[in-house]
Amino acid sequence: MRKKIVAGNWKMNKTLQEGLELAKELDAALAGKAINCDVVIGTPFIHLASVASAIDTTKIGVASQNCADKVSGAYTGEISASMVASTGAKYVILGHSERRAYYGETTAILKEKTELVLANGLTPIFCIGEVLEEREAGIQNQIVKNQIEESLFGLSAEDFGKIVLAYEPVWAIGTGKTATAAQAQEIHEYIRSVVAGKYGKEVADNCSILYGGSCNGANAKELFANPDVDGGLIGGAALTVAAFMPIIEAWG
Ligand code: PGA
Repeated sequence: MRKKIVAGNWKMNKTLQEGLELAKELDAALAGKAINCDVVIGTPFIHLASVASAIDTTKIGVASQNCADKVSGAYTGEISASMVASTGAKYVILGHSERRAYYGETTAILKEKTELVLANGLTPIFCIGEVLEEREAGIQNQIVKNQIEESLFGLSAEDFGKIVLAYEPVWAIGTGKTATAAQAQEIHEYIRSVVAGKYGKEVADNCSILYGGSCNGANAKELFANPDVDGGLIGGAALTVAAFMPIIEAWG
């Protein structure tokens, strides 16, 4: 059975003190509750170690939002996958559309990053998704297929089995526009078929595919009710416990 996951992506928000407060508040809110999904919070790099030591990481997995495409060495300002792992984080969000669009992350760079994340025992949450013009041209399937093929299909079936995918239509990120439940199901099913075509039905059936893009407490239940939607990658609504908890509880 594939995992159900609700993952927050704080992006470039929260000072260390604010982040610690949010993480502790979420930890307290989850304590003693029966939760039916894995919960992850993706914090800025500099918060990782403090957040990981302040919360119960068996309940809340900690994620970085990126890592370097190199092992170590003279890469000023970069943070390696092994450094992320050394903080107690368990996940790395990779290929977010903001990284692709603003920081020039190509499918080739993301291939390197994915391999390093896996080599360090971390779980990639690998983002894919089309921009508005691509959706309007009806080529969204081809776009996500290329993103998966070029960055991930060099992996062994065993390694691919460790990856979480996140489908995020770029036109729905931070815009208040959400893919309809039917649009999400249609492309998630397609993504699973692409994985099945390469690695077989069992690997595809076990692959968690999250939806991202203005997912919130009001629409999560309907999105998660789809057979191929296994949870969410949440931006804006992950910044307060009041907004994030209802999404976690949508897996009732
Ligand atoms: P949003 O962001 O929930 O604010 O739309 C989603 C994401 O970028 O992960």
